[in-house]
Amino acid sequence: MNGSIRTPRFGGRTSGRSGARSGARSSGRSSGRSSGLARGSSLALGLTLALVQAFALPGCGGEDRPAGQAAGDDAPSGPTFTAFELEHGVGPITAPVQLGTIDLEKATRGETLFQYNCEACHMLEDRFVGPPLGRVLEHRSAAFVMNFILNPEQMVREHPEGQKLLAEYPLVMPYQNISEDEARALVEYLRTVMEREP
Ligand code: HEC
Repeated sequence: MNGSIRTPRFGGRTSGRSGARSGARSSGRSSGRSSGLARGSSLALGLTLALVQAFALPGCGGEDRPAGQAAGDDAPSGPTFTAFELEHGVGPITAPVQLGTIDLEKATRGETLFQYNCEACHMLEDRFVGPPLGRVLEHRSAAFVMNFILNPEQMVREHPEGQKLLAEYPLVMPYQNISEDEARALVEYLRTVMEREP
């Protein structure tokens, strides 16, 4: 079912990018130590190289693009979003959602909500009117999922990730009159789905 969603660009990118960055950094450092005295002596150069590497890797075509521009290329032409919004979506949720141990009571409420409000368009494992949601929390943060539920119009029309989804799923997901608390319960339900289907 991953096949139906194109590369989870942003979610994947976030973790991928920080991973790539720290990976590049440490490999830069260690290669400096083992091979080039000159490079090892210039931490700044090492970091620059690491950054260029980190940006050039996913693009593969961007060798001659400065790092700054490569990042700008992905920005939407219309509204601009903050780094938080790019990762966690735009809407009422403006801080990362803390996930503790799963609250089963909340999850049960979420399951009922899911059946009533989401199953018309979403399945857990297969694409339907919308993308499968059973593993959505693997590539989206809880805040992103909640913002999508609470502010789907803007997420779909303006947010770069929503626009990508729209290209694949032509319907604009409607706002379901879901409260923040209910959206949180839906996240809790989706967490239990992930746990029981490893
Ligand atoms: C009328 C159909 C419809 C309903 C009902 C609906 N959705 Fe959606 N949903 C979509 C579509 C279509 C998309 C893909 C974006 C787009 O094209 O609008 C989507 C996208 C999403 C995404 C983003 C997935 C990703 O990979 O980032 C989430 C999260 C989501 N929906 C959650 C929900 C939840 C939770 C409910 C129930 C409260 C719900 N949706 C109800 C149609 C629907």
